[in-house]
Amino acid sequence: MRLSVIGAGYVGLVSGLCLAEKGIEVVCVDVDEARIDAIKRGNCPIYEKGLDELLTRNINKTFEATTDIELAVKTSDVTIIAVGTPFDGNQIDLQYIEQASEQIGRALATKDGYHLVVVKSTVVPGTTENVVLPRIERYSDKKLGVDFGLGMNPEFLREGEAVQDFMFPDRIVLGGYDEKSHKVLADIYAPFQDVDQLFVDIKSAELTKYTANCLLATLISFSNEIANVAASIGVDAREVMHGVHLDKRFTPLLENNHRIYPSFITYLEAGCGFGGSCFPKDVKAFISFASKTENPTKLLDAVIEINEAQPFKVIELVKRHFPSLAGVKTAVLGIAFKPGTNDIRESPSLKITDVLLKEKALVTAYDPVAEAEASVYFSGKVPFAKTLAEALEDTQVVIILTRWEEFGNVPELISHNPDPPLVVDGRRMLDKDSVPKYEGIGL
Ligand code: NAD
Ligand code: UGA
Repeated sequence: MRLSVIGAGYVGLVSGLCLAEKGIEVVCVDVDEARIDAIKRGNCPIYEKGLDELLTRNINKTFEATTDIELAVKTSDVTIIAVGTPFDGNQIDLQYIEQASEQIGRALATKDGYHLVVVKSTVVPGTTENVVLPRIERYSDKKLGVDFGLGMNPEFLREGEAVQDFMFPDRIVLGGYDEKSHKVLADIYAPFQDVDQLFVDIKSAELTKYTANCLLATLISFSNEIANVAASIGVDAREVMHGVHLDKRFTPLLENNHRIYPSFITYLEAGCGFGGSCFPKDVKAFISFASKTENPTKLLDAVIEINEAQPFKVIELVKRHFPSLAGVKTAVLGIAFKPGTNDIRESPSLKITDVLLKEKALVTAYDPVAEAEASVYFSGKVPFAKTLAEALEDTQVVIILTRWEEFGNVPELISHNPDPPLVVDGRRMLDKDSVPKYEGIGL
């Protein structure tokens, strides 16, 4: 079997390389020539643990990259669509899905033999059958169920853990138009025998993806709401969430009769809000979709409202000590929306840094991998320190906004400072007693 993957971004490139690693022949396509050239040279265009090694091992063996979508589709048996699905301010923006579907349709027009088209991008229910399918049929003049099959296979990987999540998924959801489509989907995922594979219909697969992301986002906003209450009555939200998380329904694994407590409380971890290219846009797109079904989404509306307000809690904590931020030397630690990635899309750090700049704080930033991306966003308005130690030199306030492991060294690095800075922990990653002046979300 040979696969073509349309879109060589976080999902397309990771899926393509992981499937190539499993021995399937893969060709990844992107419209971005620079990206494809880099991949061809063996240079990974995104920062993701383990991806470089996969590229080096598989390039020009089971894995290829091209900008020629027609050739890629024609020389493959299955095409996976992994293009972006942003939020346009009102609803999901399907322009890349529409373009890719038309291009696939055109390529299939002159291709012999059965072909399966699989949507992996996150799309609102109905998109695969109402947007992708008609374009393929129109441009190929071929018939669904006879000449080609249709599938929807949502992706659940997390950035920063993408390779691990793809290689060892919790489950694989396979939405198919008919038995034949399901059969080809099963062949693609045959190397993942130890994983639960759910064979469902296409719309159910589409809805499963939104439901998963909306639930996770809801847990975070819930935790932030509780954390804000805890803080205002002098209770530590971390202790509270520890007590809640040890419930067997959240932490089912036992070791010597004790629940195995994770290194941090996943999705009940209060902080400065969720960011990234997915939770914010997916929850908003789903709210918009649900409104078209005439179902109110009061809970999800609140999830977004809480999340949009949460970054300002960090500013409030700084202002307890510095009511005016003008001229206050401030080190912002972490611009990436989470550790393990250089992705800064919708990162709460951007919003917080923008407020600091607006209020005339003297900001220096540091991020171990996202400096290049962040410099483009701030267009020179924020100087970057080259090391954590440099960021901490001669500063009055330190604000931790990304849970990079390296930031665990802050207490040690400021321990010899005769006038130690205020540390505001937007991710609750430090022990509150490890620095002389500490403020944290939910404390
Ligand atoms: P991305 O922006 O990193 O990559 C998309 C790529 O598609 C870009 O490189 C773009 O140039 C390319 N592209 C667009 N139109 C094209 C076309 N017609 N032909 C060829 N290439 C084209 O996006 P992403 O983060 O990989 O997300 C892709 C989809 O997967 C989205 O629907 C997203 O919601 C979903 N998803 C993302 C993640 C994640 O962690 N990033 C996880 C699960 C699901
Ligand atoms: C998320 C989901 O976890 C993936 O399953 C999904 O595939 C993906 O979205 C997607 O559809 O794109 P991702 O956005 O990469 O993955 O990262 P997460 O680890 O889920 O973190 C998202 C945001 O929530 C980050 O800003 C993180 O700091 C924040 N978060 C996470 C919290 O504030 N508290 C938590 O307890 C967990």
